Amino acid sequence: MNTELRDYPLTSSIIKLKTGRVQLTIVKDPDWFLEQLSREDDQGKLYLPYWTYLWESSIGLARHIEKIGTRLKDAHILEIGCGFGLAGIVACQMGGRVIFTDAEQEALRFACHNAEQNGVSQRADFVQMDWNTPCFNRKFLFILAADVIYEEPHWIPIVTLLQEYLAHNGVALFSEPNRSNASVFFKLLTDNGFVYQKTACSVTLDGQTSEVSIYTVRRASA
Ligand SMILES: C[S@@+](CC[C@H](N)C(=O)[O-])C[C@H]1O[C@@H](n2cnc3c(N)ncnc32)[C@H](O)[C@@H]1O
Repeated sequence: MNTELRDYPLTSSIIKLKTGRVQLTIVKDPDWFLEQLSREDDQGKLYLPYWTYLWESSIGLARHIEKIGTRLKDAHILEIGCGFGLAGIVACQMGGRVIFTDAEQEALRFACHNAEQNGVSQRADFVQMDWNTPCFNRKFLFILAADVIYEEPHWIPIVTLLQEYLAHNGVALFSEPNRSNASVFFKLLTDNGFVYQKTACSVTLDGQTSEVSIYTVRRASA
């Protein structure tokens, strides 16, 4: 994959963790890009390129991944909607083997570049995948999902993806910034054979502190 990012104004963000730090190359003015790249499809549905932002949820999930670190050693891990790739990069640092996926090829270019600059690309693969049309034929011990349940049309495809891809004793880790509709998504998960535990963490990004929830999801039958 071409990891040259010359088409974008770039900046760097250092995410400090307990065991180290991650250096991310990110888009410098995501608001401008959101305006430039937003478009409507044939059905009038608005497309918004949210991958151009680094979201608090990915920092919260990265911290959680660090806490459970040893369990990830040599585990096969899928990240969905990876954006700049922070959560998956920390999972690689903990010894996991991660397939980073996103619907946006441009997001994957950043994730790939970021994995390279943090020295984990030998543990990483990058696959363009829309969760409406998943493309694997295998199971994963961990699935990572930072801030991907913000819109209701995402929910059924994501629940279906979990049913398909989560190993019997696997764990899916979701993070989200306490949006009002999140509880409806997690009710849908429990209605479809999953159980979850919820924890909270505070994340500071660009000088602003916000609360992020982390959900540890398992199959009820496990
Ligand atoms: C709010 S961003 C979160 C990005 C990253 N996980 C983070 O927390 O910083 C949502 C991500 O989901 C991706 N996405 C949106 N719709 C998708 C779909 N149908 N299939 C796969 N990825 C999708 C976007 O491209 C974007 O990278």
